[in-house]
Amino acid sequence: MVLTFIFAEAKLIKKIMAKVSVIGAGNVGASCVEAMLHLNFCSEIVLLDIKEGISEGKAMDMMQAAKQYGTNTKIIGVTNDYSKTADSDVVIVTSGVPRKPGMTREELIGVNSKIVASVTESVLKYSPKAIIIVIANPMDPMTYLALKKNNLPKHQVVGMGGQLDSSRFTYYLSQALNVPVSDIECMVIGGHGDKTMIPLIRFAAYKGIPVTKLLSKEECDKVVADTMVGGATLTKLLGTSAWYAPGMSAATMAKSIIMDEKKMIPCCCYLEGEYGENDLSIGVPAIVGKGGWERVIELELNDEEKALFKASADATRATANVLKEQNLI
Ligand code: APR
Repeated sequence: MVLTFIFAEAKLIKKIMAKVSVIGAGNVGASCVEAMLHLNFCSEIVLLDIKEGISEGKAMDMMQAAKQYGTNTKIIGVTNDYSKTADSDVVIVTSGVPRKPGMTREELIGVNSKIVASVTESVLKYSPKAIIIVIANPMDPMTYLALKKNNLPKHQVVGMGGQLDSSRFTYYLSQALNVPVSDIECMVIGGHGDKTMIPLIRFAAYKGIPVTKLLSKEECDKVVADTMVGGATLTKLLGTSAWYAPGMSAATMAKSIIMDEKKMIPCCCYLEGEYGENDLSIGVPAIVGKGGWERVIELELNDEEKALFKASADATRATANVLKEQNLI
């Protein structure tokens, strides 16, 4: 009883002291802040954008609903004033251009690399120890850029793509099986690109039952294909890239870090030998806690999955090499 009380108090103290900054108050940034209000795990959120007024307006709009969200989290909107982000525990980088219908994420590298480089440098001036969650696309090279450009310890920078792609994989599996998403476990590894991601159908399960025993080969192939173009499908419908699932995916990761939940989350980590790769930021399952991504989980992939991962790693590395060719890192 007493222990339960102390534990609850400890969690409360953690929540009171936690600060998250979100850079970019566009579709993804604002949705991420809203998702964090629902998850209710931090005391202060700073929302920053380069455009005058947008973050102040969105912060105030959400604060005016705070009582109904059931949270006392304080949201502060600022225009480009990084001093307000000082001492953040987590910084989420959404600032960047989204893709338009027909575009790949990789095509955004030119414009977004400059934004991510300048934004992370500014953030680190005031929060040198913050765990950085990268969302801006192309997400894997942007994670690599944030790490290398700022000379950070590898665990401090983590990319969000795998959590989002796994969430979309869950959705398509639930549709195919006609079961609730909460009863499904699955993950996507590899690059966060339409052609590079690897939805691991062999590891997907409905209440512990492999989905490969419940769906035909054709149905499994369709779920995998739908997952891989999950983002592009939405871009076509919306005219720009999606925001609710990306925002919630980053919020879930921030919560795992702040609350030290140590959840296993597929996310973009810097590999040094894991999965046979070196000097590469790419999606793998990892334990996410107060140290950022703390440990990569090495799955026993079969030969086909290994070949897919190697091809994904080669393609992801080729995109990251563009940064080197253009002297951006
Ligand atoms: N500093 C701060 N904010 C910036 C900067 C900068 N240097 N450059 C751009 N921004 C802001 C824009 O002013 C805009 O409000 O980033 C925001 C981006 O918002 P949207 O255009 O709505 O884009 P969004 O859909 O949120 O996507 C952001 O996430 O999923 C990825 O591919 C997507 O790279 C894109 C990013």
